[in-house]
Formats: sequence, structure tokens, C-alpha cells
Amino acid sequence: MTLHRTHSIIASWIAVIALPAAAMPARAAEPSLLEQAGQLFAPLPRDMASAALPIPAARVALGRKLFFDPRLSVDGTVSCATCHQPALYGTDALPKSIGARHRQNAHNAPSVLNAALQFKAHWIGDRENVETQAMKSLTGPASFGNPDDAAVIRKLAALGYTDDFARAFPGEPDPVKPERWGRAIGAYERTLVTPSPFDAYLHGDLAALQPAAQRGLETFIGIGCATCHNGVGVGGASFRKFGQVEDYWQATGSQPIDAGRYTATQDPADRFVFKVPSLRNVAMTPPYFHDGSVATLAQAVRVMARVQLGKILTAAEVDDLVAFLNSLTGVLPEDFVTAPVLAPQAFPPDHEPGPDPSPAATVPRSTP
Ligand code: HEC
Ligand code: HEC
Repeated sequence: MTLHRTHSIIASWIAVIALPAAAMPARAAEPSLLEQAGQLFAPLPRDMASAALPIPAARVALGRKLFFDPRLSVDGTVSCATCHQPALYGTDALPKSIGARHRQNAHNAPSVLNAALQFKAHWIGDRENVETQAMKSLTGPASFGNPDDAAVIRKLAALGYTDDFARAFPGEPDPVKPERWGRAIGAYERTLVTPSPFDAYLHGDLAALQPAAQRGLETFIGIGCATCHNGVGVGGASFRKFGQVEDYWQATGSQPIDAGRYTATQDPADRFVFKVPSLRNVAMTPPYFHDGSVATLAQAVRVMARVQLGKILTAAEVDDLVAFLNSLTGVLPEDFVTAPVLAPQAFPPDHEPGPDPSPAATVPRSTP
């Protein structure tokens, strides 16, 4: 073999090796839509239990009964399911929820479905998790309206729940406590996951998303929606200012103007800061935003593009984004769409039907 020939063989080897290597960076710079989505989002888990917050069957069963029992409210009119209705994907279709004694809440009701995925609960994140949320809801003036925990404990005993608590928390003395009803209702909520076409797509089923939804996903990533709405909840993992580019109320017409997380922290940096909500099932949960100020999903998408990104979307972009958001609508859990059979106990003795003894102006419009 001549030196010349050896050189040319080596040269052609180099060409063979170098060619795909040279092509590689270009390919890596353009990952497929599925690859990009896989880096930003994740499919739903089977449930949202953790080592510290497990979901034993007896605890979930108790939590489910409590979730659907209106007799626990001060006037017997309101359960969790009143404002988090199964038919409405865990919401109530009102701009702002109406609680016991017809008291209005400060905020729109987000869905309970997949809610335990989020890093905090409530629009301004003033509850750590679904357990503390549920624990305090029973004494919230504009939710269940009970005067104090002792009143709730009396109601639970009168309604025959003592044995259910003992079964749900075996070996724990004196099981009927606020922390325990929080953990029982929370255990039930940790089972409420709604796998959707987008989850099937993330698992590799490309046909699970229609072409319009795929274009919408591309836009959602491309224009920057996913810088805030990401992770397994497609949101629910951070706080951000509502109104990055212009004041949000210019676009939503909100009245009154809500200062957001500032209300809880009094830190000027938290003015107009809200939790980035999870967008799972968002197509099923109008009206939109913390005050329910926007009626349709298309309009909510336009508002977001304008005030968070400084973009005016074309009609086609809005349609595609809405098609993508529709792919986040999942299958409702069986034990959410059916109501449990509750013990046939009469209303507790301190049940107080009738008009509100504290007129509207004097009741703090605190969160439930
Ligand atoms: C009167 C209506 C009403 C009742 C009753 C009610 N909620 Fe809510 N719920 C709301 C509203 C309104 C919010 C938003 C509160 C806020 O952010 O200030 C909310 C927020 C939540 C959240 C947080 C969701 C998120 O994305 O941050 C969870 C979880 C929740 N409720 C579960 C429950 C459970 C469990 C019960 C029963 C123990 C209950 N709610 C009773 C109206 C209600
Ligand atoms: C800078 C962060 C950020 C960006 C970027 C962003 N969002 Fe949001 N999004 C939020 C916050 C914060 C809220 C809650 C606003 C409020 O207080 O009501 C929200 C709320 C929403 C809602 C209403 C959800 C509900 O349940 O009421 C939708 C829909 C939505 N965003 C879609 C989008 C879309 C589509 C884009 C891209 C065009 C986008 N968002 C870009 C932070 C962001």
C-alpha cells in the first residue's frame, strides 16, 4: 500500500467519521417538539402521595366523605364540593365563590383536581399544601363559616365521624383534630389526578395531539408561556407578577384591583404577584384569573400574551394555543364524579340556619 493510498483511506475515514459529527450540532440544536416538551413538562403521576403524606384507603375514604358533606358548614349549605363541583372539573363557574351564609370570597375557586402537585395552595400561596388548606377551610368565614375548631369537632362527633377518624388514623390517640381532618381531606385530594391527551403525548404517543394542538404547543414554548407554566402541572411551581409588561387590570378590567401576594407578606416586591396557576383542565374551568374577570379561554390567552409577554397574538395563534390547552383536559377520577353515601345523621345541634348575623361589610373577606 503506497503512502498516498494510505493517506487517502485515512482521509476518507475522517470524512466518514467527520460528516455525521459535523451534522450532530445542527440536529442537537433542533430537538423534536416532543423532546422539547419532555424537557419542560412531565406526565402526571398515578397519585400525589408522598412518604410523609401517604394515602391509606381508610383515610382517603374519610376525606372523600368530608369533602362531600355540607352538614359540616355553619348553616348546613356548603361542602367542599359546592365550590369544587365534579361537573365543573372541581370549580364553581363563579367569578368569586359564595360560601356559607352567602358570603362572597375574595377570589375565584381554582380546581381541586391535580391541585396537590402545586408548590403552594391558593392564588397568593398563603397555604402550604392541600392539607393546611383543608384544615383551615372548615373555619374560614366565607367557606364553611364555623366559629372555631371546637365547633367543628362537635359537629364531626354528632355526625358520627369518630369511628371513621379512628380507622383513618389507627394507633393515634384522640384522632379528631384539625390537623387530622386536613390530612384526611388532603389524602383524598392526593388521589385526584386527571391524565389527559397531553400526558399520552409526553409518553410518546404523537397522535394523541391533533395538529392544531401540536402547533399550539410549539407556540406555547416558542413565545415564552412555558417559562412560567411548566413542570408536571404546566404551572403551579412559582410566583410571578401578573403584569410583566403592563398593569394587568388594563387588560382584564379587574375591579377592585387585587395587590396579590403583597396582601399576605406586606413586602412591596410582592405587589401584584400571584402563583402561576397549573393549566391542567383549564379549558373546563372558566371564568379566568384570580378574580374571575375574564370569561373565555381565548380572551385569557390574549391577556396573558399581552401583559406577560408584550405580544399581540394572531387569531390563528390564539386558536392553536386554545387547542393545546384543550389537550390538558383529562379523565375525571371515578371516586370524584360519584358522591359517597353519608351516614344518615340529623343536622348537629349547633347548626345555625338563617340570615347572616355578621353583615357583609363586617366579615373579613379572607380566603377559605
Ligand atoms: C365557598 C366556596 C369554597 C368552599 C366551601 C371551599 N373552597 Fe376551596 N377554594 C375556594 C376559593 C375561592 C379558593 C381560592 C382561595 C384563594 O386563593 O384565596 C379555593 C382554593 C382551594 C384550593 C387551592 C387550589 C389552588 O390551586 O391553589 C384547594 C386545594 C381547595 N380550595 C380545596 C378545598 C377543600 C378540600 C374544601 C373543603 C374542606 C374547600 N376547598 C372548600 C372556594 C371554596
Ligand atoms: C411571567 C410569567 C407568565 C407567563 C410568561 C405566562 N403566564 Fe399565564 N399566568 C401567570 C400568572 C402569574 C397567572 C395568574 C394570574 C392571576 O392572578 O389571575 C397566569 C394565569 C394564566 C391563565 C389563567 C388560568 C386560570 O385558571 O384562571 C391562563 C389560561 C394562562 N395563564 C395562560 C398563559 C399563556 C397561554 C401564556 C403565553 C401566551 C402565558 N400564560 C404566559 C404567569 C405567566
